[in-house]
Amino acid sequence: MPATPDQADQAILHREIARRRTFAIISHPDAGKTTMTEKLLLFGGAIHLAGAVKAKKNQKSATSDWMAIEKERGISVSTAVMTFEYRGLQLNLLDTPGHNDFSEDTFRTLTAVDAVLMVIDASKGVETQTKKLLEVCRLKRTPVITFMNKLDLEAMEPLELLDNLEKELHMTCTPMTWPIGKGKEFQGVYDLRDRTCNLYLAAERGHKNERESLGDLGSVRAREVIGKHLAQITEEIELLQGASEPYDEKRFLRGQQTPVFFGSALNNFGVKELLDCFCDLAPPPQPRETRARVVEPEEPAFTGFVFKIQANMDRNHRDRIAFVRVCSGAFRRGMTLRHVRTGKDLAVRNAMTFLARDRSIVESAFPGDIIGIPNHGTIRIADTFSEGEALQFTGVPNFAPELFRRVRLKDPMKQKQLAKGLTEVCEEGAAQLFRPLIGADWIVGAVGGLQFDVIETRLRDEYNVDAGFEGLSLHVCRWVELPAGFNRQKFEDAYTRDLYTDGHGHLCLLTETRFRADYIADKNPGVLLRDTMELHAA
Ligand code: G4P
Repeated sequence: MPATPDQADQAILHREIARRRTFAIISHPDAGKTTMTEKLLLFGGAIHLAGAVKAKKNQKSATSDWMAIEKERGISVSTAVMTFEYRGLQLNLLDTPGHNDFSEDTFRTLTAVDAVLMVIDASKGVETQTKKLLEVCRLKRTPVITFMNKLDLEAMEPLELLDNLEKELHMTCTPMTWPIGKGKEFQGVYDLRDRTCNLYLAAERGHKNERESLGDLGSVRAREVIGKHLAQITEEIELLQGASEPYDEKRFLRGQQTPVFFGSALNNFGVKELLDCFCDLAPPPQPRETRARVVEPEEPAFTGFVFKIQANMDRNHRDRIAFVRVCSGAFRRGMTLRHVRTGKDLAVRNAMTFLARDRSIVESAFPGDIIGIPNHGTIRIADTFSEGEALQFTGVPNFAPELFRRVRLKDPMKQKQLAKGLTEVCEEGAAQLFRPLIGADWIVGAVGGLQFDVIETRLRDEYNVDAGFEGLSLHVCRWVELPAGFNRQKFEDAYTRDLYTDGHGHLCLLTETRFRADYIADKNPGVLLRDTMELHAA
């Protein structure tokens, strides 16, 4: 019997889901995220010449790392997602704006991926920002694949690196490759999966390099070429076989075990092994939780959630792009979507997709894809889109900021513009806005200090408001959840000076010390003080 149109659509949906891999790269600044991104794009044919991204250094702006690539290479890459094809798969690489600072955007982007590639500087081991980001992955049980980078420089011993990772990140390692030599004598990697030595020849900067497979360690060619490293590597591999845990798919998919690769992103050593294995191991789009039920990607009806809002690059237009992760069903150009928070239906004709170098109007998109919906501030982070069902995806968090500053307006006549500018910029999610219960101050809270510079610049450039920031001795933010029947007024009266409302109207405590927050919690049994807040549209 010929397939019905529905069956044919369903078959396409299944096929497209199976070939998608949606992931992000995380690392501590300078570990090699940008370089790795370039190399992956090079393999995917999305760019043809990779190069060092020099513009990035000392660059004090909120531009994404990709924008630095864009500047340097003169190519156009989206700042939120980069899509490329490799071995018949469609890889959606989501940008995590790391830079030399740390933004909440990065955390939220991690809620929209199905796997993470973690790049570690092998001379330094696990660093603080990697640790923080990994906590988010652990919370979401996101599978993590690790690349130990910069083996061409003086690095820690490979075994020491594994030990460091296991201790710092509380996950077991299962090496997939092993370095042949290191530092100046770094020659390539031994692929533990197919037991071959892959030797690399350094290439001209930016170009793909030659790789020579020498066969197993016992082969004549391997003996000839690897020479003095042979005994050491043979011994280390024997040791590994006894000591390391074999690859376990279940544990990997739960984020408890990480496959580890060694190499040098800059020299392109070991990147192909990583990418090939990534394609084999990283999962296709996974089911996602909503308040009411779990949504499976294969469900025919479209669903998706907003994980990021970005001001339009074109400063003359105030519109913004809401980045939606497709969770189920297929998106077709012009289809009507329900914006669940407002209950309004929206015919989406101008959603954008990001294929290779170009952003273009999206004709169709499938689970795992990211589509950008232009809007004028009606869409917020964590909003859900569906074909009518009143779903609310969960797990898009707001993290308690750690830095707080009071906004100082230089021209008091610009109050209105300030309010608009602050609200809009903070709604994009890079920082959070607080107002005291009493008083008219605007307090901005951020995870990283860079955000204040960004806000100041944007207020000036986009809203024509001259404003600065002054330091505050506030360090702790907790969202307050009062139990049913609790006397809110009495609570507010007792702690007025500590209480604020955030941009969503939620009650928060901002205090100088954790001690003060703990004290208030102790005095008020039943009141919950949270350091993360599910971003649900109220
Ligand atoms: P990030 O995005 O994680 O911040 O790191 P990025 O890729 O920008 O890399 C940081 C620095 O480390 C860059 O040097 C880059 O060239 C270098 N790097 C990355 N991978 C490797 C590697 O495998 N080996 C070596 N030796 N260096 C590596 P830079 O001095 O900041 O820039 P540039 O002058 O090299 O462009």
